[in-house]
Amino acid sequence: MRITVTVNGRTRSADCEPRRTLADFLRYDLGLTGVHVGCEQGACGSCTVLLDGATARSCCVLAVQADGSDITTVEGMATTSLSPLQESFRRHHALQCGFCTPGMLAVATELLRDNPEPTEAEIRTAIAGNLCRCTGYHAIVTAIAAAARGGDGGSPPSPPEA
Ligand code: FES
Ligand code: FES
Repeated sequence: MRITVTVNGRTRSADCEPRRTLADFLRYDLGLTGVHVGCEQGACGSCTVLLDGATARSCCVLAVQADGSDITTVEGMATTSLSPLQESFRRHHALQCGFCTPGMLAVATELLRDNPEPTEAEIRTAIAGNLCRCTGYHAIVTAIAAAARGGDGGSPPSPPEA
């Protein structure tokens, strides 16, 4: 089948089998290798992209289901320099191997768009479905909280309300 999507602002088309996942379509057919494929069963969150503005695990979506959609991958989050969220991840050492990072950035982007001043509990809830084998999560939470504050020095996020 011929699939056409808008990815990171560009219209892209490619042929693929009806059973091809969106993750494989993006990664192997369109060359967007920032789409990381871990578990391939919806458990780890590493393949998360923004699909028509909402986070989606691209390993659990067929490419044909995304035909005509608008998709943002990690490649589309920066232009000539890192986005503020990416810069905050860099500044606060929120990645080590980086495998989980594209998915983390996708869910954090959605969170900060919908809730610009999240509490620590809200940040932890937002990333609860994204597994990180390296960081222990603390630096990721700190980076997202700092980005929410406009990239300040990274003091701990506000505690959840009692
Ligand atoms: S690879 Fe998609 S959720 Fe793990
Ligand atoms: S930085 Fe390695 S899995 Fe998260």
